[in-house]
Amino acid sequence: MRRGTIVALLGLGLVAGGVATAVAVVPTWLPESASREAGRIHFVIWFVIVICIAIFALVAAVMIYAVVRFRVQEDDFEDGPPVHGHTGLEITWTVIPFALVTAIAIVSAIVLSRNDAQARDTLRINVTAQQFTFTFGYPEAKNVMSPVLRLPEGRSVELYMRALDVIHSVFVPEFSQKEDVVPGLVTTLHITPDRVGTFPLECTELCGLGHSLMRTQAIVMKPAAFDSWLKQQEKGAPAPAGSSSSGSSSSSGSSTSVSVFSANCASCHTLTAAHATGTIGPDLDKLVSYAQQAHKPLTDFVHESIVSPGAYVESGYPDGVMPQNFGESLSKTQLGALVTFLVQSSQQASKKG
Ligand code: CUA
Repeated sequence: MRRGTIVALLGLGLVAGGVATAVAVVPTWLPESASREAGRIHFVIWFVIVICIAIFALVAAVMIYAVVRFRVQEDDFEDGPPVHGHTGLEITWTVIPFALVTAIAIVSAIVLSRNDAQARDTLRINVTAQQFTFTFGYPEAKNVMSPVLRLPEGRSVELYMRALDVIHSVFVPEFSQKEDVVPGLVTTLHITPDRVGTFPLECTELCGLGHSLMRTQAIVMKPAAFDSWLKQQEKGAPAPAGSSSSGSSSSSGSSTSVSVFSANCASCHTLTAAHATGTIGPDLDKLVSYAQQAHKPLTDFVHESIVSPGAYVESGYPDGVMPQNFGESLSKTQLGALVTFLVQSSQQASKKG
Protein backbone atom coordinates (compact mmCIF):
# COMPACT_ATOMS: atom_id res chain seq x y z
CA MET A 1 0.00 0.00 0.00
CA ARG A 2 1.19 3.51 -0.75
CA ARG A 3 1.93 5.82 2.14
CA GLY A 4 -0.84 8.23 1.07
CA THR A 5 -3.42 5.43 1.19
CA ILE A 6 -2.40 4.43 4.68
CA VAL A 7 -2.58 8.02 5.93
CA ALA A 8 -6.03 8.50 4.31
CA LEU A 9 -7.38 5.24 5.82
CA LEU A 10 -6.00 6.11 9.25
CA GLY A 11 -7.53 9.60 9.13
CA LEU A 12 -10.94 8.31 8.02
CA GLY A 13 -10.80 5.61 10.72
CA LEU A 14 -10.02 8.14 13.43
CA VAL A 15 -12.87 10.44 12.34
CA ALA A 16 -15.40 7.58 12.14
CA GLY A 17 -14.20 6.18 15.48
CA GLY A 18 -14.42 9.64 17.06
CA VAL A 19 -18.00 10.15 15.87
CA ALA A 20 -19.04 6.69 17.12
CA THR A 21 -17.32 7.30 20.47
CA ALA A 22 -19.16 10.62 20.87
CA VAL A 23 -22.49 8.90 20.17
CA ALA A 24 -21.65 6.25 22.78
CA VAL A 25 -20.35 8.58 25.47
CA VAL A 26 -22.10 11.96 25.25
CA PRO A 27 -25.78 11.03 25.76
CA THR A 28 -26.47 9.29 29.08
CA TRP A 29 -27.57 5.87 27.85
CA LEU A 30 -27.22 4.00 31.13
CA PRO A 31 -28.39 5.00 34.60
CA GLU A 32 -25.58 5.35 37.13
CA SER A 33 -25.12 1.89 38.59
CA ALA A 34 -26.16 1.28 42.21
CA SER A 35 -25.18 -2.36 42.69
CA ARG A 36 -22.14 -4.55 42.13
CA GLU A 37 -24.12 -6.69 39.67
CA ALA A 38 -25.02 -3.59 37.66
CA GLY A 39 -21.37 -2.51 37.65
CA ARG A 40 -20.37 -5.86 36.11
CA ILE A 41 -23.20 -5.72 33.58
CA HIS A 42 -22.14 -2.21 32.58
CA PHE A 43 -18.60 -3.52 32.12
CA VAL A 44 -19.86 -6.11 29.60
CA ILE A 45 -21.85 -3.43 27.80
CA TRP A 46 -18.79 -1.17 27.47
CA PHE A 47 -16.57 -4.10 26.48
CA VAL A 48 -18.92 -4.82 23.57
CA ILE A 49 -19.31 -1.13 22.67
CA VAL A 50 -15.52 -0.63 22.41
CA ILE A 51 -15.24 -3.61 20.05
CA CYS A 52 -18.14 -2.30 18.00
CA ILE A 53 -16.56 1.15 17.71
CA ALA A 54 -13.27 -0.33 16.49
CA ILE A 55 -15.01 -2.46 13.84
CA PHE A 56 -17.20 0.47 12.78
CA ALA A 57 -14.15 2.71 12.37
CA LEU A 58 -12.35 0.09 10.24
CA VAL A 59 -15.34 -0.66 7.99
CA ALA A 60 -16.33 3.01 7.60
CA ALA A 61 -12.75 4.03 6.70
CA VAL A 62 -12.34 1.35 4.02
CA MET A 63 -15.79 2.01 2.61
CA ILE A 64 -15.49 5.80 2.40
CA TYR A 65 -11.98 5.50 0.93
CA ALA A 66 -13.16 3.00 -1.71
CA VAL A 67 -16.18 5.09 -2.68
CA VAL A 68 -14.06 8.20 -3.20
CA ARG A 69 -10.85 6.69 -4.58
CA PHE A 70 -12.39 4.15 -6.99
CA ARG A 71 -15.34 6.23 -8.16
CA VAL A 72 -15.94 5.50 -11.86
CA GLN A 73 -14.96 8.20 -14.35
CA GLU A 74 -17.68 9.57 -16.62
CA ASP A 75 -16.23 8.11 -19.83
CA ASP A 76 -15.02 4.83 -18.30
CA PHE A 77 -16.99 1.85 -19.70
CA GLU A 78 -14.37 -0.78 -18.88
CA ASP A 79 -15.14 -3.87 -16.77
CA GLY A 80 -13.31 -4.00 -13.47
CA PRO A 81 -10.37 -6.37 -13.08
CA PRO A 82 -11.37 -10.02 -12.44
CA VAL A 83 -10.57 -10.70 -8.73
CA HIS A 84 -10.85 -14.26 -7.41
CA GLY A 85 -10.77 -14.26 -3.61
CA HIS A 86 -7.81 -13.76 -1.33
CA THR A 87 -6.99 -16.56 1.10
CA GLY A 88 -5.08 -14.33 3.50
CA LEU A 89 -7.95 -11.82 3.75
CA GLU A 90 -10.53 -14.56 4.23
CA ILE A 91 -8.57 -16.13 7.06
CA THR A 92 -8.17 -12.71 8.69
CA TRP A 93 -11.86 -11.79 8.58
CA THR A 94 -12.82 -15.19 9.95
CA VAL A 95 -10.27 -15.42 12.75
CA ILE A 96 -10.70 -11.87 14.12
CA PRO A 97 -14.52 -11.98 14.53
CA PHE A 98 -14.23 -15.49 15.98
CA ALA A 99 -11.76 -14.22 18.59
CA LEU A 100 -13.92 -11.20 19.41
CA VAL A 101 -17.17 -13.17 19.78
CA THR A 102 -15.37 -15.74 21.92
CA ALA A 103 -13.98 -12.98 24.14
CA ILE A 104 -17.48 -11.49 24.58
CA ALA A 105 -18.86 -14.95 25.46
CA ILE A 106 -16.15 -15.54 28.06
CA VAL A 107 -16.56 -12.12 29.70
CA SER A 108 -20.36 -12.53 29.76
CA ALA A 109 -20.14 -16.01 31.26
CA ILE A 110 -17.84 -14.79 34.04
CA VAL A 111 -20.17 -11.88 34.85
CA LEU A 112 -23.27 -14.11 34.82
CA SER A 113 -21.75 -16.64 37.16
CA ARG A 114 -20.43 -13.98 39.54
CA ASN A 115 -23.78 -12.18 39.57
CA ASP A 116 -25.61 -15.42 40.37
CA ALA A 117 -23.10 -16.63 42.96
CA GLN A 118 -24.64 -17.11 46.39
CA ALA A 119 -22.81 -14.92 48.89
CA ARG A 120 -22.55 -15.82 52.56
CA ASP A 121 -24.80 -13.87 54.93
CA THR A 122 -27.35 -13.20 52.18
CA LEU A 123 -30.40 -11.21 53.23
CA ARG A 124 -33.50 -12.88 51.91
CA ILE A 125 -36.49 -10.75 50.98
CA ASN A 126 -39.79 -12.26 49.89
CA VAL A 127 -41.41 -10.38 47.05
CA THR A 128 -45.12 -10.81 46.37
CA ALA A 129 -46.45 -9.37 43.15
CA GLN A 130 -50.15 -9.03 42.47
CA GLN A 131 -52.28 -6.67 40.42
CA PHE A 132 -51.09 -3.94 40.97
CA THR A 133 -48.66 -3.84 43.86
CA PHE A 134 -45.45 -5.32 45.15
CA THR A 135 -45.12 -6.33 48.79
CA PHE A 136 -41.73 -7.00 50.35
CA GLY A 137 -41.45 -9.36 53.34
CA TYR A 138 -38.40 -9.64 55.59
CA PRO A 139 -38.30 -13.17 57.05
CA GLU A 140 -35.29 -12.20 59.18
CA ALA A 141 -37.51 -9.85 61.15
CA LYS A 142 -40.79 -11.67 61.84
CA ASN A 143 -41.70 -11.23 58.20
CA VAL A 144 -42.12 -7.47 58.43
CA MET A 145 -44.03 -6.29 55.36
CA SER A 146 -43.22 -3.17 53.40
CA PRO A 147 -44.68 -1.61 50.24
CA VAL A 148 -41.20 -0.25 49.45
CA LEU A 149 -38.06 -2.34 48.89
CA ARG A 150 -35.54 -1.29 51.53
CA LEU A 151 -32.03 -2.70 51.19
CA PRO A 152 -28.85 -2.37 53.23
CA GLU A 153 -25.82 -1.05 51.35
CA GLY A 154 -23.00 -3.53 50.79
CA ARG A 155 -24.91 -6.68 51.75
CA SER A 156 -25.88 -9.38 49.30
CA VAL A 157 -29.66 -9.59 48.94
CA GLU A 158 -31.71 -12.32 47.38
CA LEU A 159 -35.25 -11.58 46.25
CA TYR A 160 -37.58 -14.60 46.43
CA MET A 161 -40.35 -13.63 44.11
CA ARG A 162 -43.88 -14.99 43.82
CA ALA A 163 -46.87 -13.80 41.81
CA LEU A 164 -50.43 -14.32 43.07
CA ASP A 165 -52.27 -13.74 39.82
CA VAL A 166 -50.53 -13.05 36.48
CA ILE A 167 -46.95 -12.56 35.26
CA HIS A 168 -45.22 -9.43 36.54
CA SER A 169 -41.60 -8.34 36.26
CA VAL A 170 -39.30 -6.54 38.68
CA PHE A 171 -36.99 -3.86 37.33
CA VAL A 172 -34.83 -1.24 39.02
CA PRO A 173 -32.88 0.55 36.25
CA GLU A 174 -29.98 1.37 38.61
CA PHE A 175 -29.58 -2.35 39.38
CA SER A 176 -29.61 -3.21 35.63
CA GLN A 177 -31.40 -6.50 36.24
CA LYS A 178 -34.91 -7.52 35.30
CA GLU A 179 -36.65 -10.71 36.39
CA ASP A 180 -40.12 -12.02 35.70
CA VAL A 181 -42.40 -12.99 38.58
CA VAL A 182 -44.50 -15.95 37.46
CA PRO A 183 -47.51 -17.57 39.15
CA GLY A 184 -46.62 -21.08 40.36
CA LEU A 185 -42.86 -20.46 40.32
CA VAL A 186 -40.36 -18.86 42.66
CA THR A 187 -37.90 -16.72 40.73
CA THR A 188 -34.88 -15.15 42.36
CA LEU A 189 -32.71 -12.10 41.85
CA HIS A 190 -29.39 -11.27 43.49
CA ILE A 191 -28.58 -7.66 44.30
CA THR A 192 -25.62 -6.24 46.20
CA PRO A 193 -26.41 -2.54 46.51
CA ASP A 194 -23.33 -0.32 46.62
CA ARG A 195 -24.81 3.17 46.52
CA VAL A 196 -27.20 4.75 49.02
CA GLY A 197 -30.22 6.35 47.38
CA THR A 198 -33.83 6.05 46.29
CA PHE A 199 -34.48 4.42 42.93
CA PRO A 200 -37.67 3.63 41.00
CA LEU A 201 -38.85 0.02 41.02
CA GLU A 202 -41.39 -0.83 38.39
CA CYS A 203 -43.33 -3.69 36.91
CA THR A 204 -42.16 -4.27 33.34
CA GLU A 205 -44.64 -6.93 32.22
CA LEU A 206 -48.02 -5.80 30.93
CA CYS A 207 -50.18 -7.24 33.72
CA GLY A 208 -53.55 -5.55 33.39
CA LEU A 209 -55.35 -2.25 33.64
CA GLY A 210 -53.15 -0.90 36.45
CA HIS A 211 -49.80 -2.04 35.01
CA SER A 212 -48.53 1.49 34.46
CA LEU A 213 -49.25 2.30 38.12
CA MET A 214 -47.50 -0.79 39.46
CA ARG A 215 -44.44 1.00 40.66
CA THR A 216 -42.76 1.67 43.95
CA GLN A 217 -39.24 2.44 45.15
CA ALA A 218 -36.06 0.67 46.09
CA ILE A 219 -34.34 2.50 48.93
CA VAL A 220 -30.73 1.61 49.65
CA MET A 221 -29.84 2.57 53.22
CA LYS A 222 -26.69 2.56 55.34
CA PRO A 223 -26.58 -0.82 57.15
CA ALA A 224 -27.11 0.79 60.58
CA ALA A 225 -30.09 2.80 59.36
CA PHE A 226 -31.51 -0.33 57.72
CA ASP A 227 -31.17 -2.35 60.93
CA SER A 228 -32.89 0.28 63.02
CA TRP A 229 -35.67 0.60 60.43
CA LEU A 230 -36.17 -3.18 60.51
CA LYS A 231 -36.24 -3.23 64.34
CA GLN A 232 -38.76 -0.42 64.41
CA GLN A 233 -40.97 -2.22 61.89
CA GLU A 234 -40.67 -5.41 63.88
CA LYS A 235 -42.13 -3.67 66.93
CA GLY A 236 -45.03 -2.29 64.93
CA ALA A 237 -45.61 -5.44 62.87
CA PRO A 238 -48.96 -7.20 63.27
CA ALA A 239 -48.90 -10.23 65.57
CA PRO A 240 -48.64 -13.44 63.55
CA ALA A 241 -52.07 -14.98 62.89
CA GLY A 242 -53.21 -17.30 65.68
CA SER A 243 -51.06 -15.69 68.37
CA SER A 244 -52.94 -15.37 71.64
CA SER A 245 -51.57 -11.99 72.67
CA SER A 246 -54.22 -9.35 73.21
CA GLY A 247 -54.76 -6.76 70.49
CA SER A 248 -51.93 -4.40 69.72
CA SER A 249 -52.08 -0.86 71.01
CA SER A 250 -54.28 1.45 69.00
CA SER A 251 -51.44 3.66 67.75
CA SER A 252 -49.28 0.90 66.30
CA GLY A 253 -52.50 -0.79 65.14
CA SER A 254 -53.42 2.16 63.00
CA SER A 255 -49.95 2.54 61.49
CA THR A 256 -50.10 -1.17 60.61
CA SER A 257 -53.47 -0.87 58.90
CA VAL A 258 -52.18 2.08 56.86
CA SER A 259 -49.24 -0.05 55.72
CA VAL A 260 -51.57 -2.95 54.82
CA PHE A 261 -53.63 -0.45 52.84
CA SER A 262 -50.58 1.09 51.15
CA ALA A 263 -49.19 -2.30 50.20
CA ASN A 264 -52.41 -3.73 48.84
CA CYS A 265 -54.93 -1.07 47.88
CA ALA A 266 -53.28 2.31 47.38
CA SER A 267 -52.17 1.90 43.78
CA CYS A 268 -55.76 1.43 42.59
CA HIS A 269 -57.92 3.35 45.10
CA THR A 270 -58.23 6.85 46.47
CA LEU A 271 -58.38 7.24 50.25
CA THR A 272 -57.60 10.60 51.83
CA ALA A 273 -56.65 9.07 55.18
CA ALA A 274 -53.83 7.10 53.53
CA HIS A 275 -52.86 9.82 51.02
CA ALA A 276 -53.77 7.37 48.26
CA THR A 277 -54.88 8.70 44.88
CA GLY A 278 -55.42 5.62 42.70
CA THR A 279 -58.20 5.79 40.13
CA ILE A 280 -58.40 2.23 38.81
CA GLY A 281 -61.02 1.22 41.37
CA PRO A 282 -63.76 3.09 43.22
CA ASP A 283 -62.97 6.09 45.47
CA LEU A 284 -62.89 4.63 48.97
CA ASP A 285 -63.66 7.98 50.57
CA LYS A 286 -67.18 7.29 49.25
CA LEU A 287 -67.59 3.86 50.88
CA VAL A 288 -70.43 5.12 53.08
CA SER A 289 -72.61 6.01 50.11
CA TYR A 290 -71.59 2.85 48.22
CA ALA A 291 -72.75 0.77 51.21
CA GLN A 292 -76.07 2.61 51.20
CA GLN A 293 -76.50 1.89 47.47
CA ALA A 294 -75.73 -1.78 48.14
CA HIS A 295 -78.20 -1.79 51.08
CA LYS A 296 -75.64 -3.28 53.44
CA PRO A 297 -74.19 -2.26 56.81
CA LEU A 298 -70.89 -0.46 56.23
CA THR A 299 -68.61 -2.95 58.03
CA ASP A 300 -70.13 -6.00 56.33
CA PHE A 301 -70.01 -4.22 52.99
CA VAL A 302 -66.32 -3.34 53.33
CA HIS A 303 -65.39 -6.85 54.43
CA GLU A 304 -67.35 -8.44 51.58
CA SER A 305 -65.88 -6.03 49.01
CA ILE A 306 -62.34 -7.02 50.00
CA VAL A 307 -62.90 -10.77 50.19
CA SER A 308 -65.23 -11.16 47.21
CA PRO A 309 -64.97 -8.03 45.11
CA GLY A 310 -67.51 -9.26 42.55
CA ALA A 311 -70.41 -9.25 45.04
CA TYR A 312 -71.13 -5.57 44.50
CA VAL A 313 -69.48 -3.68 41.66
CA GLU A 314 -69.82 0.10 41.70
CA SER A 315 -71.23 1.30 38.38
CA GLY A 316 -68.62 2.84 36.09
CA TYR A 317 -65.92 0.41 37.25
CA PRO A 318 -65.10 -2.88 35.51
CA ASP A 319 -65.81 -6.20 37.20
CA GLY A 320 -63.00 -8.74 37.62
CA VAL A 321 -60.10 -6.28 37.87
CA MET A 322 -59.64 -6.41 41.63
CA PRO A 323 -57.78 -9.53 42.82
CA GLN A 324 -60.15 -12.21 44.16
CA ASN A 325 -57.71 -13.62 46.69
CA PHE A 326 -57.33 -11.01 49.43
CA GLY A 327 -59.25 -13.44 51.67
CA GLU A 328 -56.23 -15.75 51.47
CA SER A 329 -53.34 -13.34 50.97
CA LEU A 330 -54.15 -11.18 54.00
CA SER A 331 -53.93 -12.64 57.50
CA LYS A 332 -57.03 -12.43 59.72
CA THR A 333 -55.35 -9.70 61.75
CA GLN A 334 -54.47 -7.71 58.64
CA LEU A 335 -57.97 -8.11 57.19
CA GLY A 336 -59.59 -7.03 60.45
CA ALA A 337 -57.30 -4.02 60.75
CA LEU A 338 -57.93 -3.06 57.13
CA VAL A 339 -61.73 -3.25 57.48
CA THR A 340 -61.69 -1.14 60.66
CA PHE A 341 -59.36 1.39 59.05
CA LEU A 342 -61.53 1.69 55.92
CA VAL A 343 -64.75 2.01 57.92
CA GLN A 344 -63.30 4.76 60.14
CA SER A 345 -61.59 6.65 57.32
CA SER A 346 -64.61 6.61 55.03
CA GLN A 347 -66.89 7.75 57.86
CA GLN A 348 -64.57 10.65 58.54
CA ALA A 349 -64.42 11.49 54.82
CA SER A 350 -68.22 11.41 54.48
CA LYS A 351 -68.59 13.78 57.49
CA LYS A 352 -66.17 16.23 55.88
CA GLY A 353 -67.69 15.89 52.40
CU1 CUA B 1 -47.50 -5.99 37.24
CU2 CUA B 1 -47.24 -4.88 35.16
